[in-house]
Amino acid sequence: MTDTARAELDRALEASLRSAWDGHLARYDEARFPFARWALERVRARGWEVEDLTTIHRDVPLDAVYGLTKALCADTRDPALRGLVEDLVREVIAPAGELEPPLAVQRALNVRIMLPDRPQAVFPFHTGLLYGHGPGSRSVWMPLTDLRAARDETASMYIIGLERSRALVQQAVRERLSVAEMTERFGRESRPLRAGPGEVVLFSQENLHGNVVNRTGKTRVSVDFRIAEARFGDRLAHKPVGGYFALMDRGGPRPERAPTNALPTVSYLHNATPATAGAPVHLQRYMLAEYCAARGITVDFELFELDAMKHLPTLWHAATTLAANVVMYSVFALPEAPEERRRLLEAFLAQRAVVHFVNEDLRLVDAADLADVEALCAFARYGV
Ligand SMILES: [Fe+2]
Repeated sequence: MTDTARAELDRALEASLRSAWDGHLARYDEARFPFARWALERVRARGWEVEDLTTIHRDVPLDAVYGLTKALCADTRDPALRGLVEDLVREVIAPAGELEPPLAVQRALNVRIMLPDRPQAVFPFHTGLLYGHGPGSRSVWMPLTDLRAARDETASMYIIGLERSRALVQQAVRERLSVAEMTERFGRESRPLRAGPGEVVLFSQENLHGNVVNRTGKTRVSVDFRIAEARFGDRLAHKPVGGYFALMDRGGPRPERAPTNALPTVSYLHNATPATAGAPVHLQRYMLAEYCAARGITVDFELFELDAMKHLPTLWHAATTLAANVVMYSVFALPEAPEERRRLLEAFLAQRAVVHFVNEDLRLVDAADLADVEALCAFARYGV
């Protein structure tokens, strides 16, 4: 990409953040998108006889709430719910936030249950950037309990505008502020979001936000997730598309096939591409081992790429000479050049070998899978 094109993209991102993603509210039709009802049904399906989401603190034992939260997060992977979230993004959020497709949405959404009178559960003020998210990522906050009345404001999320957030973060770094000092200083300048079911708040990775102690006597339940646009796909920092984000409009997750063949299976590691350079191989190895254990895959041996060789001769060797199935870290560990990448993957297919991409939970089994790999690589504009 040329410097001019890059500067133009930076300008477009900045304009978008200021115009639609600085704590802006968007409305959705609750009848069409009954997320609050979905959450209540899921809580009840887990065996908790709650009257209402706001009574969870009364109806669910304290030591079961964390487990319930995690179960609800896992439930957001349900294909029907996922379809509804993608429809919401397509019909409401993308138009309100002026997002351009292709888009990707966080794979598992965050569901949060904020109990009343729990100072230890207060989320300190932070920004997405400070948590490793890139500036090209957008955040959506969706309260499932009503926080519109002034008396309910302590249960809400507190936010600071984009410009002031940037100045305050710089100040906090410069002055080496403690969490207590930041809580005090940021808290003073923040405002509670007045929103409820049927509304979402759009904000950026640079808006400071956090909670205070919920003094409403009611439980607050909310969902939050992030969206990424392909045009800013290389501005996602440590959360690239494929793992944390799943592409929209790909027809949902394919049923997982259990490809079996008589070929040996090898694991393969390197630090030779931009995406793998910062992924220590011992951590990649953990991810590969967990993936294989979960699927009953036995690895015959491990291949390690020759360190200074960006042309990945060892991977080519696996594809052409060894004729082995390969378990590797990510599609972003493949060659960056599209033509080279395609030839390599076709070499695997010609041997009827399967390539497993652990980070994306994706498998190259036949020619149809090539499009999935390419869609991910193109989204992140791999190699730019
Ligand atoms: Fe956050």
